[in-house]
Amino acid sequence: MIKQAVIPAAGLGTRFLPVTKIVPKELLPIMAKPALQYIVEELVQSGIEEIILVLSPEKESIFHYFSEGGFIDQILDERGHQEKLFDLRSLLKQVHFKRVYQHNPLGLGHAVLCAKREICTDHFAVVLPDDIVFSTTPCMKQLISAFTTKAQSILGLEKVADEHISSYGVIGTSEKPAASEPFLINQVVEKPKKEEAPSNYAIIGRYILSKEIFDFIPEKMQMLHKEIQLTDAIAKLVSQNKVSGYLFEGKRVDVGQPIGFTKANIICSLEQSDNSHEITSFIREMGL
Ligand code: G1P
Repeated sequence: MIKQAVIPAAGLGTRFLPVTKIVPKELLPIMAKPALQYIVEELVQSGIEEIILVLSPEKESIFHYFSEGGFIDQILDERGHQEKLFDLRSLLKQVHFKRVYQHNPLGLGHAVLCAKREICTDHFAVVLPDDIVFSTTPCMKQLISAFTTKAQSILGLEKVADEHISSYGVIGTSEKPAASEPFLINQVVEKPKKEEAPSNYAIIGRYILSKEIFDFIPEKMQMLHKEIQLTDAIAKLVSQNKVSGYLFEGKRVDVGQPIGFTKANIICSLEQSDNSHEITSFIREMGL
């Protein structure tokens, strides 16, 4: 079963400057909760028991956030206000965190390779914190249940419009993709021009990967390449017919963009019954 998940979180977060000069983008809040906590909650609800955070040394605060026993914990205990951190503490009891370092941001493939020595199962999850999925069944849980029917690497997919296709890894298939059913992939291309894209099915930041992937990720950057891409390594597994695609159910928000944070905040504030009425009347008042 899938019990380990790798979260690459060593990026510089330049789209979020100036705030990311000091605060990692993964800790920026959606309502009062860091974006990354939504991802961790999804993983815990999907049965993941160990999370390997790939960090840069400057982003240690992410690991500290997901550790118990800090200054605030102590003060709250002393003042008898443990309930204020109740949800986070119960979350931390359900999952174990490890950290590894990616000292140079050499790409997603390289980030995953940094976690290699911590992976002790045949298949593991990779989750990109830029993609938050609001769904009835947690997105990773959907992939894991697809994995139980077809025990091979699986990529979470979403159909995207032509104008956005060049921002994603894109798959090709000879099958007719149906929602919530894994199907065989016969091609993957990283960020193709729309004329060259094999389909409109984009890879979203949810993967179940076979440990074999590590055989295909180069340790050093090759000449002419700007990054060590995960998609290039996945292409090698695809060429051996070892990868499925899966169209998940749910609304994905790209919190890798500042506008995505606004969208995620709107979704969460409307979903939380205490606030939804106030937000809808505020939007009406603004004449929107
Ligand atoms: C990465 C992957 C890409 C994938 C995307 C999903 O790209 O390389 O294949 O489609 O995440 O969010 P990035 O957005 O990091 O450039």
